Amino acid sequence: MKEIIIAPSILSADFSNLEKEIRAIDDGGCDWVHVDVMDGQFVPPITIGDNIVKAIRPHTAKVMDVHLMVQNPDRQVEAFAKAGADIITVHQEACIHLERTLQSIREAGCKAGVSLNPGTPVSTLASVMHCVDLVLLMSVNPGYGGQSYIHAVTDKIAQARRMLDDAGSSAWLEVDGGVNATTIAEVVGAGATAVVAGSAVYNKPDYAAAMAELRTLAASA
Ligand code: DX5
Ligand code: ZN
Repeated sequence: MKEIIIAPSILSADFSNLEKEIRAIDDGGCDWVHVDVMDGQFVPPITIGDNIVKAIRPHTAKVMDVHLMVQNPDRQVEAFAKAGADIITVHQEACIHLERTLQSIREAGCKAGVSLNPGTPVSTLASVMHCVDLVLLMSVNPGYGGQSYIHAVTDKIAQARRMLDDAGSSAWLEVDGGVNATTIAEVVGAGATAVVAGSAVYNKPDYAAAMAELRTLAASA
């Protein structure tokens, strides 16, 4: 049976009551809390800053998985690390000096993640395997929750799985976007070890039941 990490994205939570929304996924059995940070530049919306991560940090002991969809992420690493992030993931497309940025995340005391948009090839990871704790493959074009899974990304998951295995890397392989009860088996079957689920958890009446269903479907993949 495959154990999968379920990381609900609070992007789809009720922002007027974040404490309750965080506690609900924590009590409901999530593994990580996925935080989608958008700056209005790398992607159009503006969402969550380090002050919000700091505010929600006391309400869960779960891993805080921070996904920076921002330009110049180097300028944000220290602030998010101080705010309580456990994992900080940057976009390959936003980093001029990706290796240095990943090293700086580790130096700040966090696990270092690199994310690829659907249109960015997996081969770009080869040169940073030595300093990556997490690979995040976007399975939608980033910016919005509730989009449909792009099936062409499934091959990329399999490619990244092979690349990580060949390198002897134990980095997590996380997939983000359109993961739900219909698509999770395809994602996990291709080799993902962690999935982000925004609308598939927060748009359901019972978060615990939604996560349990995803876990069951992942286990049979
Ligand atoms: C998209 C974000 C995702 C998103 C996932 O830009 O990075 O984390 O919130 O939402 P769903 O699961 O609804 O596709
Ligand atoms: Zn995300």
